[in-house]
Amino acid sequence: MKAVILNGSPRKKGSTATALRAIHDELATEAEVEWFDAYDLKLKPCMGCMKCRPDGECVLPADDAQRVRAAVSSSDILVVGTPAYWGNMTAPLKMLFDRNVTLFESFDGGWPKPKQKGKRAAIVVSSGSPMPWSMLPTQGGGAIRSVRTILRSGGYSIKGTMRLAAVKPEEVNGPRQTAQAAAIARKLLALAIIDPTHSA
Ligand SMILES: Cc1cc2nc3c(=O)[nH]c(=O)nc-3n(C[C@H](O)[C@H](O)[C@H](O)COP(=O)(O)O)c2cc1C
Repeated sequence: MKAVILNGSPRKKGSTATALRAIHDELATEAEVEWFDAYDLKLKPCMGCMKCRPDGECVLPADDAQRVRAAVSSSDILVVGTPAYWGNMTAPLKMLFDRNVTLFESFDGGWPKPKQKGKRAAIVVSSGSPMPWSMLPTQGGGAIRSVRTILRSGGYSIKGTMRLAAVKPEEVNGPRQTAQAAAIARKLLALAIIDPTHSA
């Protein structure tokens, strides 16, 4: 079983990364886990040329967008974490998703079709605003919604969402958050199946 973790935070020891690490450690007991830090990736932004639809291939020279695409494509599980920046995911993470629209959807003239159906995903979002304000669309709620939109477009079944509202990194290692991370990882590991008919 394979899993990919995408860390959208620039802070490698921040709240998002700490929660992702806890999920990683539990996943790693049963799965081969690959971790990508969005801020370390070298990739050009999507130019909006639309050539990937319907061709499937990006016309830009190969870079880390294709590397992550290959990893996600061959994985059963995808975990996406991001802090809320302006009520959305962070820019490098968004850039990665923009470059990989056809990893998630295929376009053959009709309504876009999900390409990762049958796979499992989870979301981690850290926000500076506390509950209940963190759930507003202008805060963490907006970041959750935008990551969820992409995962659902791919057909992923979302098995858990970890909302870290004004939670400091050291608090993420506390019993409540650690238990939540472990529970999400266990849900991800159960019955994770790749459909062999799915292509990259
Ligand atoms: C550029 C920028 C924009 C931000 N925008 C928001 C926001 O819209 N809502 C919010 O609740 N927090 C916002 N924050 C705060 C971060 O979401 C918060 O500090 C988060 O916990 C950081 O997560 P990390 O420790 O994983 O990096 C913003 C922070 C930065 C640097």
